[in-house]
Amino acid sequence: MKILPVANLYTPNSGFKRRRENSSLSVKQPPTAAIPAENYRANFLPSFTSLKFKEGENNYCDTSFFRDYETLEAAAKILKRNFPHGTDILDFASSNGEEAVSLYAILNSGQKGKYKILCFDKSQNIIDIANKGVYTVYNGVSEDGFLLMDELKDKRNRKLKAYFDKMMEEVPAPSHKINDEHFMNFISQMFEYEFKIKHYKIRDEYKDNFKFNVGDINDIEKLYPEKQAGAILFRNAFYIPTHNLALNEYNMNVRDDINKQEVVDKIIDKVYEKLLPGGLFIMGDNEKDHVFLADENLTEAETLFIPLYCASIYICPPVYRALARDKRFKTVYGKTIDCAMGKTGIFTVWQKNK
Ligand SMILES: C[S@@+](CC[C@H](N)C(=O)[O-])C[C@H]1O[C@@H](n2cnc3c(N)ncnc32)[C@H](O)[C@@H]1O
Repeated sequence: MKILPVANLYTPNSGFKRRRENSSLSVKQPPTAAIPAENYRANFLPSFTSLKFKEGENNYCDTSFFRDYETLEAAAKILKRNFPHGTDILDFASSNGEEAVSLYAILNSGQKGKYKILCFDKSQNIIDIANKGVYTVYNGVSEDGFLLMDELKDKRNRKLKAYFDKMMEEVPAPSHKINDEHFMNFISQMFEYEFKIKHYKIRDEYKDNFKFNVGDINDIEKLYPEKQAGAILFRNAFYIPTHNLALNEYNMNVRDDINKQEVVDKIIDKVYEKLLPGGLFIMGDNEKDHVFLADENLTEAETLFIPLYCASIYICPPVYRALARDKRFKTVYGKTIDCAMGKTGIFTVWQKNK
């Protein structure tokens, strides 16, 4: 049985075509390649990257410097073009700010620049850690472990490390806890002598470009009143309010009573109001923000059954449906990820139509 990658559901040759014509979706094809569905390696290996603080089940504040660099770079290019004199950027689900530091570094090529990033996360714990201002970078399983290496062959990594070193300075280990203790014990034992961890802070001259506050994206109009921003991020977090699971996490605890479309619609309606015309909505590349397990509110015609996992998914991801409704947003960047369905095309940067 052939399984269609999410992006293929939107192509002219796919079985989704008829339904697409009936919907208000207008999305173009991101780069994607069909590969066998057995390639679900990505989700069977836990991808703990700079795991910060365990807040509750399925609610990790994991993050990493330069996580999904391609998306940040694509968004930065458009932002510089559309808002050359600067603009506010709202980073929701910011965790402790590694994402904001990364976007800022890419936007300004590591120099001091004009873009301010207001960071919000609904977890008080992670905002406390952010405001203490100490960051960890470690090797082994972390995506940003390359920042610890002295010699880097890869040109892109060399560039990112140069940005990072310009903005960040090494500091001694603080007395407060940053990473999940059990996880850190586990990986340091796994990598034994090769395990390295370093601590950093943002250099003083860059500090004022970031603000960290507790905030839920559902309260965006109260947190940022009477203004509009050039970009809003909500990356690798949609799966939390929707209780979405990856296909290979499917189990008896799956919550099919939550109307995912309704939860997502509320968020996207508010994001739309708070963005300037031409402003960007920036998503992450975690499968769980793009491939959504079906809930009991969907009709059969709106779901696609995936036999390998004995699970059904939304044919049209609720986030894409909400963004594309009434042509409010268009896609401006797409990429391919490895997920439970194989190589899958997703859209991570959306632009509010002018
Ligand atoms: C997996 S982390 C993602 C961190 C970062 N965006 C990244 O991609 O590296 C998810 C974060 O979303 C936060 N979060 C979940 N729901 C939220 C909401 N409704 N508003 C703001 N933050 C939320 C959690 O507290 C957690 O820190």
